[in-house]
Amino acid sequence: MAIKHYLQFKDFTRDEYEYLFARTQSIKKQFKAYQQYWPLTDRTLVMIFEKASTRTRLSFEAGMHQLGGSAIYLNTRDSQLGRGEPVEDAAQVISRMSDIVMIRTFEQEIIERFAANSRVPVINGLTNEYHPCQILADICTYIEHRGCIQGKTVAWVGDANNMCHTWLQAAEVLDFRVHVSTPPGYGLNPALIDGVDASCFAVFSDPMEACHGADLVTTDVWTSMGYEAENDARLRAFADWQVDGDMMRVAAADALFMHCLPAHRGEEVTAEVIDGTQSVVWDEAENRLHVQKALMEYLLLGRIETK
Ligand code: CP
Ligand code: NVA
Repeated sequence: MAIKHYLQFKDFTRDEYEYLFARTQSIKKQFKAYQQYWPLTDRTLVMIFEKASTRTRLSFEAGMHQLGGSAIYLNTRDSQLGRGEPVEDAAQVISRMSDIVMIRTFEQEIIERFAANSRVPVINGLTNEYHPCQILADICTYIEHRGCIQGKTVAWVGDANNMCHTWLQAAEVLDFRVHVSTPPGYGLNPALIDGVDASCFAVFSDPMEACHGADLVTTDVWTSMGYEAENDARLRAFADWQVDGDMMRVAAADALFMHCLPAHRGEEVTAEVIDGTQSVVWDEAENRLHVQKALMEYLLLGRIETK
């Protein structure tokens, strides 16, 4: 049987997401009630980080322990990955010693090559192109607060980065719309939107227009990891793409605000918005733990019947 990986949001169907959202709620409830649940006893997760992380490392490592398994952290600096070992060779070896692998790296191509040579499921913990685990947590958070996301409008304000392109894939799979507003020169990547149904998104030059009537307003850092050399130019280019109270006021009255974190108050979002009543950023962060437990369980054990 072919191994199932989670490398992009579109790797799963709507039916699989419906299962995962329901399963997440069950796992979360059990965890909050201090009920031990160890379906992954003796299973090992290897986490490979080529970029920094707080939430992704913590949520995967804690999540695997909470499911009864163990997690091993590898980074580029302290492993042979940083000394030029081919990714194909690393995948062969690492996947013979573990049951599931999570990778945070640069180009999507790296994780695709790793997965093609892996004997075990591989999860994308962020690449330059996509961040599917974060969008999984974000949509779960939206559902918890407002119910089904189908037919809703998400406003993306800022950089057309890995988060933005993952939102577009999610819109197609789960049938909602994304209004994207980016500064000139920082727009959507044609290669990444090539396969996305054009009816799922619209591009706005004015961020206020993108936010108009939106059910969810979301943004991310102006400079993603790996693009630090562009920081000064980006600070200037993105100045008018800061999510502020005015943008939230033109959104729907019950609109939520999300940010995957880490955030820079005074850059991509004002303190008033991220620390305000419409912000659900802490729930988003916490839900990384719960959705990824459901994800690892699904990739390793398939569907579990919830009693
Ligand atoms: N949102 C997110 O992935 O955070 P980290 O970079 O801290 O893992
Ligand atoms: N777009 C950001 C997300 C960090 C979680 C980055 O890639 O650095």
